[in-house]
Amino acid sequence: MVSVEFLQELPKCEHHLHLEGTLEPDLLFPLAKRNDIILPEGFPKSVEELNEKYKKFRDLQDFLDYYYIGTNVLISEQDFFDLAWAYFKKVHKQGLVHAEVFYDPQSHTSRGISIETVTKGFQRACDKAFSEFGITSKLIMCLLRHIEPEECLKTIEEATPFIKDGTISALGLDSAEKPFPPHLFVECYGKAASLNKDLKLTAHAGEEGPAQFVSDALDLLQVTRIDHGINSQYDEELLDRLSRDQTMLTICPLSNVKLQVVQSVSELPLQKFLDRDVPFSLNSDDPAYFGGYILDVYTQVSKDFPHWDHETWGRIAKNAIKGSWCDDKRKNGLL
Ligand code: ADE
Ligand code: ZN
Repeated sequence: MVSVEFLQELPKCEHHLHLEGTLEPDLLFPLAKRNDIILPEGFPKSVEELNEKYKKFRDLQDFLDYYYIGTNVLISEQDFFDLAWAYFKKVHKQGLVHAEVFYDPQSHTSRGISIETVTKGFQRACDKAFSEFGITSKLIMCLLRHIEPEECLKTIEEATPFIKDGTISALGLDSAEKPFPPHLFVECYGKAASLNKDLKLTAHAGEEGPAQFVSDALDLLQVTRIDHGINSQYDEELLDRLSRDQTMLTICPLSNVKLQVVQSVSELPLQKFLDRDVPFSLNSDDPAYFGGYILDVYTQVSKDFPHWDHETWGRIAKNAIKGSWCDDKRKNGLL
């Protein structure tokens, strides 16, 4: 098994990280206090109690119920900055060099907070991560799939200035997967793509949903990356396609265990993906909820795949750099 020191030194990229999912209990309670937010009846009352709850979720929806309560404590531009800055400070120490991070504007606009407030707070933290740590980053705006597509179109309209000026680099799709298939969002993706030819497209698919949702996201939404995508393992033709087109899957091992998609990291089809030359990156998804940041993810995978040598890990790190949306100059600098 490779050493933690080796994994620490590997230049690591994160492509699947929800900024709202970095809200640690020890920031959640102070922010609730700072903003006079009363947490709902029955919500854990202390950091310890909340950490206890986060030890296991029944499924994606059980987690999302807590996650959306958490987002309610974020109000001001400073709150969004503080949240993202706390994240960058942690992962800087873990050897992260590039981060493509999700955020969910609709979790905030639905509470009367403008896209501008959220985006500016997060962008300011990204700028500081670059100036202080040299970490490059991209913002990915996600649409919440439980929200009506017509409402999502309005969100895209509100985000138009940030899509046009490139502050938002990519569009994603998250939240409850199984009841809300990709085809519902065809118009939204078409509209967003028409605003800026450089906008990248991705979507959560094949996390709890079937391999068909992965194919549909590729065919109908024209995405060039798939978030999670682990259920692609059950469709041989799809695996050939992902390999041929070198479409990257952003895999989140600790998340899959905590949300009971698999019982252990060793069950993940990572060796199959390597053997079939399906590119993937390893990511932390919602680290405050799932018990680990990027280096913890790499370390856990190395324990569950102890036969992977330095060369295999080098290949994984290189694939993550190659699949990133940073410019060629940055990529070549990292490779
Ligand atoms: N939002 C935050 N984390 C998510 C996940 N793993 N799947 C879907 N939506 C999410
Ligand atoms: Zn996710």
